[in-house]
Amino acid sequence: MAISSEQKDQLIQACLYAQRLAYVPYSQFRVGAAVLAQDGQIYTGCNIENASFGATICAERVAIVKAISTGNRKILALAVVTDANEFARPCGICRQVIAEFAAEHFAILALKPDGSYEEKSLTDVLPDAFTSASFG
Ligand code: THU
Repeated sequence: MAISSEQKDQLIQACLYAQRLAYVPYSQFRVGAAVLAQDGQIYTGCNIENASFGATICAERVAIVKAISTGNRKILALAVVTDANEFARPCGICRQVIAEFAAEHFAILALKPDGSYEEKSLTDVLPDAFTSASFG
């Protein structure tokens, strides 16, 4: 489902805001994310690091688990921003988690810190995904 330019603007503002809340004492690398659920709600996330590095959670997954855990199981789009001066790239684990809950034609708005963005589909960044359909 295509999302409106107003919804894109809201997602962008939400992910830039969420980035400010990142808990990053180890990497100092702040990531912000926001997902748009099917009912129009926006959920934000930031990366949350841990002294046991493997317990770190990415911003994208924080936003997604907030949506799912409030009963919003279908997500339409995600915006993400990092501190790097390049379009943000969700990690492989986050791409797989997006695939679990993404509506068809899922949009990924990959931002630079200045708010400019590149739009990709989930299939652009995760072709031939393993999903429940792969169980046969
Ligand atoms: N990180 C994210 O939040 N999302 C990604 O897609 C890639 C990496 C975080 C995890 C860690 O806190 C920091 O960025 C460096 O890897």
